[in-house]
Amino acid sequence: MAMLINLFPKHNWRLRHHLQAPSGNITDPNGLCQFNGAYHVFHQYVPRWPKLGHGWGHWVSEDLLTWRWLGGAIMPSCEYDEGGSYSGSAVERDGALWCYYTGNVLEPGDYDYDYAGRQANETLTITREGLTFGEKVPVLRNPDYPAYCSNHVRDPKVWEQDGSLHMMLGARTRNDHGCVLLYRSDDGLSWQLEGTCTSASGKPFGYMWECPNVAELGGREYLFVCPQGVPKQEYAYQNIHISGYFPLPGRAIDLLSGDSGLMDAEAPYGCIDETTFVELDYGFDFYAPQLFTDKSGRTMLTAWVGVPDIELQYEVPTEGWAHTITMLREVTVNAAGRVCQWPAAEMDGLRLAEVPFTAEAAHGASGLMGSSDYDLYTMEGAVGARFDGVADVTIEGIEGPGRLMLNGDLELVVDDREADLVFLGQAGRFRTLRRMPLTALSAGRIESLRVMVDTSVVEIFVNGGEVTMTTRWFPLDIAHLSVTSTFAGEHHGWALRDFTFENVG
Ligand code: FRU
Repeated sequence: MAMLINLFPKHNWRLRHHLQAPSGNITDPNGLCQFNGAYHVFHQYVPRWPKLGHGWGHWVSEDLLTWRWLGGAIMPSCEYDEGGSYSGSAVERDGALWCYYTGNVLEPGDYDYDYAGRQANETLTITREGLTFGEKVPVLRNPDYPAYCSNHVRDPKVWEQDGSLHMMLGARTRNDHGCVLLYRSDDGLSWQLEGTCTSASGKPFGYMWECPNVAELGGREYLFVCPQGVPKQEYAYQNIHISGYFPLPGRAIDLLSGDSGLMDAEAPYGCIDETTFVELDYGFDFYAPQLFTDKSGRTMLTAWVGVPDIELQYEVPTEGWAHTITMLREVTVNAAGRVCQWPAAEMDGLRLAEVPFTAEAAHGASGLMGSSDYDLYTMEGAVGARFDGVADVTIEGIEGPGRLMLNGDLELVVDDREADLVFLGQAGRFRTLRRMPLTALSAGRIESLRVMVDTSVVEIFVNGGEVTMTTRWFPLDIAHLSVTSTFAGEHHGWALRDFTFENVG
């Protein structure tokens, strides 16, 4: 007889070592920095979600383990941002934090809001102590963008280089090519277009590039963008919108300023070989990564654990709150020239006792499949470990294919060709499969895995983070986590303590 499953868990999938607003929705990380001795993480924040009204939410931490929630920081409040304080970045100048964001305005009228009716006001607001923000000053408005741009121009990323400030913006042309615009300024207030770029082939690589970032890693510059609408392939670009990077053949400011037309050009400068694009993540939920350099010189990254237009993919089941961002990750380049992401060293401070992997714990793991539960795997040679719902698991020296299972909910299945992330039951909310070809790895095979599991987030780091697989999951049982593995390799697992959240309801 079919078992009845309780589809309405009493918990609400609150997270234990990820940031979550007390209520409302959070999406893209914004304004990441270390300023006056503290890390500041801002992010897109919709307090009355699912009602609209985007602004910046604000967290502060000294050690990346204790987090103070300061609530809304740059919320819509003036004629330049009444439709939302969209994404942006922060740069430190003269001991103050200069935050640039896109003030979104939808003009009343019968507009399509893609090509007409939308204002993109790149706006500056300054905080001296990191808590309160001053006047909002628009520094770039629609007439300041080349005529080939649609109304989608946003996400200022500002940095200092060669004694000037540079601002990169993501944009969509009127004929739907993703591109970026680069502006230069001496005083942070008056900005001139200094360069542009789009795909070299003349064919669009997505209709819009969002959230650009430039980072210098290992002596080379990388341009990070989020192309929207790149057609899905069997083994790539499986999410509706994607995130990745182009390794650049020089400095971004030199490469892009080869644009001879600038404001008068008919199209952006096709200087980016889009075939060099590397996808950062092969999970279900990863978008809008932002990078920054901290005071010790580390390049750090965090991203929204979600993708835009999510409602086309699945319904988030949490009530009253939605979404999160990844743990802070350190970014480096490995010997193969690949950008690697790895949990910031501080995350090791979450580790409590080591939980041994044993053959006994691998047996009798039970799970759910469809509407019937069953005794899941008595997999030959398997080892397992049981945790209280969250865990940090590493497997080193992996030889050959294998599978790793989280309860009966989520499985990573590796064969000779690919690594598949598979939801078995309802924890995927009707999402089922993401495939990573092993050719996406410079080694052509899986050598190591680190899997950080939180109540409703799984972050998987493959081969030192050369590829990540980041995913929301919504298991019915959040108190018990069985990790079962058939990989030949050295397994370690740690129980984890929670982040300390201050001021979070
Ligand atoms: C990316 C994005 C940004 C925009 C923000 C609005 O997810 O679309 O381009 O600034 O979200 O919330």
